[in-house]
Amino acid sequence: MSRTNKIPGYLFGSPQVPKSPITFEELELLKKTVMFSEEDAHYLRMAGEVLKDQVDEILDLWYGWVGSNPHLVYYFADKRSGEPIQGYLEAVRRRFGQWILDTCFRKYDQEWLDYQVEIGRRHHRSGKNRTDGVESVEHIPLRYLIAFIYPITATIKPFLAKKGHSQEEVEKMYNAWFKSVVLQVSLWSYPYARDGDY
Ligand code: HEM
Repeated sequence: MSRTNKIPGYLFGSPQVPKSPITFEELELLKKTVMFSEEDAHYLRMAGEVLKDQVDEILDLWYGWVGSNPHLVYYFADKRSGEPIQGYLEAVRRRFGQWILDTCFRKYDQEWLDYQVEIGRRHHRSGKNRTDGVESVEHIPLRYLIAFIYPITATIKPFLAKKGHSQEEVEKMYNAWFKSVVLQVSLWSYPYARDGDY
């Protein structure tokens, strides 16, 4: 995964990323709670093989959708002028593409857990805008993170079905993806909860 080093602001595995306050044991219990099993890890890798050369098309779809929703593109805009910051959109797009691959191919180990909490911070006022040095809106409300689970999941299905896998395999890849996105957004919620409430 050496090309990942070239993505600005992508700090997976870097000592700059603080250790997660959510423990590994807590992660394991969360995985159980979303019914994430070894079989799902297997089907996520299959999904990764299916998706890896479709990443740009997926991002075009997601970005097109965010871009056509003023209340969403707002979070990529300059906080004074309200104009979308093109460089910000592009920088995040590259990390987003890498995230699709990480979701499918990475082991969900301590480094992965640490980076999940970092992604949560990057949506929250405690970390948004810092990575790209922009003066955008300071915070993305938690309700939108949760609501995004649906479009990020529903729109992936046609891409999973494009490489000739059986309906059963597509269904299993889709469910594994769905579980992983729910798991991740659950981890990303950490900075949004009051002390002791997470
Ligand atoms: C299921 C929900 C979501 C997923 C899977 C997702 C995914 C991602 C990923 C992978 C990144 C880059 C992480 C990195 O820096 O390595 C990111 C950053 C970002 N996302 Fe999301 N996101 C979600 C919800 C949202 C929502 C609702 C918005 C609001 C429109 C949003 C706006 C942003 C922005 C502005 C950044 C850049 C944050 C920064 O300043 O570093 N995201 N997102």
